[in-house]
Amino acid sequence: MAPVEGFTTSGNGIGPSVAALHAALASVIDPELRRPITDLGMVKEVTADDDGRVHAVVLLTIAGCPMRDTIRADAARALAGVDGVTDVEVELTAMTVAQRQALKEQLQGPGGTRGIVFNEPGSLTRVYAVASGKGGVGKSSVTVNLACAMAAKGLRVGIVDADIYGFSVPGLMGLTTNGVTQSPTRVDEMILPPVAFGVKVISIGMFITGNQPVAWRGPMLHRALEQFLTDVYFGDLDVLFLDLPPGTGDVTISVAQLLPKAEILVVTTPQAAAAEVAERAGAIALQTGQKVAGVIENMSYLTLPDGSAMDLFGSGGGGLLAQRLSQTMNAPVPLLGQIPLEIALREGGDSGAPIVLSTPDAASARALQGIADRLAVRPRGLAGLKLDVRPS
Ligand SMILES: Nc1ncnc2c1ncn2[C@@H]1O[C@H](COP(=O)(O)OP(=O)(O)OP(=O)(O)O)[C@@H](O)[C@H]1O
Ligand SMILES: [Mg+2]
Repeated sequence: MAPVEGFTTSGNGIGPSVAALHAALASVIDPELRRPITDLGMVKEVTADDDGRVHAVVLLTIAGCPMRDTIRADAARALAGVDGVTDVEVELTAMTVAQRQALKEQLQGPGGTRGIVFNEPGSLTRVYAVASGKGGVGKSSVTVNLACAMAAKGLRVGIVDADIYGFSVPGLMGLTTNGVTQSPTRVDEMILPPVAFGVKVISIGMFITGNQPVAWRGPMLHRALEQFLTDVYFGDLDVLFLDLPPGTGDVTISVAQLLPKAEILVVTTPQAAAAEVAERAGAIALQTGQKVAGVIENMSYLTLPDGSAMDLFGSGGGGLLAQRLSQTMNAPVPLLGQIPLEIALREGGDSGAPIVLSTPDAASARALQGIADRLAVRPRGLAGLKLDVRPS
C-alpha cells in the first residue's frame, strides 16, 4: 500500500492500519468549510503504536477556532471506531501562515477571489432575493424555513441577511443565545460563515455587540453587502437566499447591482392593499432586469378551534399579485404557495427552531415545504452559462 503522508504506524503491521485511520479521519467534516478535514490539509499526522494507542495532530485554521471542541470530538470519535484502536489522543494546533495561505488558495483559487463568485459565468447557484412591499409580512420567516427545508433535502444552502438595519436571521436560525450571536471565524480576510441546520449564514448581527443599532447611509450598506458576497466563503452552493428589508430602498437596488442574476421571491399577505404595495417591490425587477421567480402568500388564513378557516387578512392577494406581476413582467409569475397563520411558526422563530424542522407536520410547515420542493426542482441556474456546444 502506498504510504500516506503524515500517517505512520509502528511499522510491524500489528497496530491499526494506516488506511483505516485515514478513512476514519476522512469522515470528519470541518463544521465551517463543510469538507473532510483530510481534504483541507488539516491532518498533520496520525501515529499508532502496537497497542492500538493513536495520536493525531489536527491543524486548525486559526488558534481560537470556535469549532475546535467539535473538531476534536469528531476526530476522536472517528478514530476510536477503527479496528484495533484502544486509546485516542487528538492534539490541536494552528496552521502556519503558509499552510493557511495554501488552504485559502485551495478554496478560492490562486491569489484568492476578489469578485462575487455567484456572478461568474460558470456559477450554477440559484440566487433568490426575498422581497416584500410592506414590513412584517414574513420574509425572514419564509427565508429561513425555505433554506432549512432545502438543506434538509441535501442541497447546499446559504443565507445572506441583507436586512442590515433590521437583521433577524441569526435569531431565527438559533445562532443567538442570551443576546450573544455566534461570530464567524476569520481566516485572514476570508470570513467563514456560521452554520445552522446545515445552512451557512451571514448577518451584520454577527459583527456588532449587543443590540446596537446600525446607523449607516446607502454607500455603507452597499459596502457591507458587497463584503458579504466577496469575503465570505460560502463554497459551491446550490441555492443562496437573500433576506431583504421591506420595500424598494437602497439595499434592494444594491442587491440588483451586486447580483444581477438574483431572482425575486415576493412575499405578501392576502390583503388586496398589501398585494398592491408588493407589486411595486416585484415590478422593480423590470427596472433592474431581474426575474421574478414567484409569489408567496403568507398569513393566508387562521384555523379556528372548530376547524374552520378564518381569513384574518382577507383573501386572494397572492393570486392577484401573481397575475399582475405576470402581466407587468410579461412572463409567467406563479403563486408558489399559501402559508397559514400558526402560533407554532412564530414560536419556532422566537426560539430559533424553524418550524419546517421542529414541527414538520404543522400546516404552515407543510406549505413551506411545498414551496421549497417547487423551488428545489428548478434546475441549478444555467442563466449566463456558456455551453460549449459545437456542431460535429
Ligand atoms: N404564518 C405565520 N404565522 C404566524 N406568525 C407569523 C407567520 N409569518 C410570520 N409570522 C410572525 O410575524 C412576525 C414578522 O415576521 P418576519 O419577521 O418573518 O417578517 P418580515 O417580513 O421579515 O419583517 P421585516 O419587514 O420587519 O423584516 C414574526 O414575529 C413572525 O414570527
Ligand atoms: Mg425580516
